[in-house]
Amino acid sequence: MAEGIVFSKTAERAVIYAEIGPQIDALIAGEADLTANLANVAAVLNEALGFFWVGFYLRKDGQLVLGPFQGPVACTRINFDAGVCGHCYTTRQTVIVPNVDEFPGHIACSSGSKSEIVLPIFNDTGEVFGVLDVDSDKLNDFSQVDASGLAEIVRIIENSLRMSTNAAVHL
Ligand code: SME
Repeated sequence: MAEGIVFSKTAERAVIYAEIGPQIDALIAGEADLTANLANVAAVLNEALGFFWVGFYLRKDGQLVLGPFQGPVACTRINFDAGVCGHCYTTRQTVIVPNVDEFPGHIACSSGSKSEIVLPIFNDTGEVFGVLDVDSDKLNDFSQVDASGLAEIVRIIENSLRMSTNAAVHL
């Protein structure tokens, strides 16, 4: 059982992503419960990077359904063709939105969210299993540094899905 994470509090994000990646890997590698693992990933990202909102939407029953997260109360269900999350789901690409007010169809779960990045999470057969959604209360807060750093964390999650005991409902 991990005691906590260690990271350079004043470092730039690229450094912090590099520091937390191996710790996330160690945290979830030995645990087969998907919910527990995603909850801890959200907690690490929140603690290390101080995002306004960070969490998961997972494919279930023909929609994206809210999973483990840290931050204000969020929308529970998102249609595959709706919002930034739906755009990520259907295009299977990472989406960076510098200003959420300028993204057609953006779903405003909170007026505090100003910019957003969403990454697809793939299962073993190449389907989008869910998305990692990160919101900032600042405009234009996400760059390729975040896309790369978060992609590495998504890769760790994808690896852990293979041994998950309760991921099947989303497959
Ligand atoms: N803004 C997202 C909805 C989820 S919240 O940001 C937590 C969207 O447009 O899909």
